This record gives sequence, C-alpha cells and structure tokens, in this order.
Amino acid sequence: MNAHSSAPIGIFDSGVGGISVLKEAVRQMPREHFIFFGDTKNAPYGTKSKEDVLNLCRGIVEMLLQKGCKAIVIACNTATSAAAAFLRAEYASLPIIGMEPALKPASLIRQDGIVLSLATPGTIAGEKYAHLYALYGEGVASLPCPGLMEFAERGELAGERLNRYLRELFAPYSDQKVEAVVLGCTHYVFLKDAIQAFFPGVPLIDGNEGTVRQLIRRLDALNLLAPPDAAGKVELLSSGGPEAIAQMKALLEL
Ligand code: DGL
Repeated sequence: MNAHSSAPIGIFDSGVGGISVLKEAVRQMPREHFIFFGDTKNAPYGTKSKEDVLNLCRGIVEMLLQKGCKAIVIACNTATSAAAAFLRAEYASLPIIGMEPALKPASLIRQDGIVLSLATPGTIAGEKYAHLYALYGEGVASLPCPGLMEFAERGELAGERLNRYLRELFAPYSDQKVEAVVLGCTHYVFLKDAIQAFFPGVPLIDGNEGTVRQLIRRLDALNLLAPPDAAGKVELLSSGGPEAIAQMKALLEL
C-alpha cells in the first residue's frame, strides 16, 4: 500500500457506537481527515454469527479503501473480535486498529471486589474475549447485553425503559462490591450516565482513549500522520440513510 499522510482515516462500527471513538479521535488528532461509516442497516452485529460479521466488515473495508484510506479503525469490539485477525491477514500492509473490552485496566483497579464487564453476546462468546479473560478475568463477571446497543441507536440515552433494562441486568450483583465497570461495546459509552447512576463513584472504563493512542502510534511509525498544516475534516456515511446520519451528527455534537 502506498498511502499518503494526507489521506483519510476510515473508522467504522455497526452503527452510532463508533461515533464515541471518532469523537476521541478528533479530540486527539484534530488535523486528520476522518471518514466514518456506520452500518446501521445491518446492526446489531453483536447477535450475528462471526461469519456474517466478517463478511460485512470485508465489504466496509473495501469501500473505505476505495476512498483512499491510509488506516482503518474498527470502532467496534464485536467486529474486532470477529474480523480483525482475518482483515489483518488479508490487508497485510494496511494499519488496522481494533478494540477489546478494557479488562486489563479494570484488573489494575480491582482489589477485593468484582468487575462487571458489559459487552455484546458476540464479543463475550468470542475467542478473543476468552483469551483476554484467561489473562485478566479474575473477579470479573461477564454480562452479555443483547438489546442494550439499541438504546444508543435510538438515541434513548436516559429514561425508565433504559433504567429497567439496567436494573434487571445488575440485579444479580446488588449485594456485591463492584469496583469497576467495563464498557466493552462502543455504543455503551453513550449510556455512561445511566449506567453510572447504578454505581456512583465507580470507574466506568472504555477503550476509546487507548485505541486512539494506538492509532497515533501506528501512523507515526509509518510517517503517516497528517501534515502540521492540514485542516481536519469529518465525513459521516451510513447504510441507514439520512436519519442515521442525523443521529450520528447529534451524538458527535456537530
Ligand atoms: N458497537 C459494537 C461494539 O463495540 C457492537 C454493537 C452491535 O452491533 O451489537 O461491540
């Protein structure tokens, strides 16, 4: 691949969750040109088979490469788990940055209590998570959350329906000392306030900052960071049409 430093960076997710990663990327890398794709039409990924998610990811990466992207960020834990290894083998010279639930940083916080790890059923059932769990899973309760990403997709970031979902999800742990909550799906970052209300003062950990730092490291090593005089730019694309784009803009606060 003969990428140029002024080429765009492609970021994708099954929907709006990746906007939380894009936000952090714009904050840390204001001079870059980002093309974000949300696959709203095919969301959720978290309840699909690994093969289906891999095929969807292949199509998206091809599309982003057609647009000249110099790097790809898989702003989705589920898609990373299903597809990152395959995509890296298929596009050997392309920097592909993925995400994983932040069990490692959570394990540094945990003392004598427990960590709740929230992710999609696909992420928690995946090999990548099993590997992570073997290393950092002590004291971790893994909670698959089917239906939770949909709240962020609908823009329902607060309210009784969401609280009821969360109350049921957390009920089995009400008598335990929860010392950290891992937000292992990029959609859940938008639900932070609602989740935090159940665990006042407890750290909620997502992987967004570290993912962007990793993107910077990879691009820097390849001399592909945008030139100092570049003007940053964000393009939003979606398989879900204008309403999905409007929802992304609202979450990005554009
Ligand atoms: N945002 C995605 C993640 O980080 C998954 C949501 C979904 O499509 O199920 O896992």
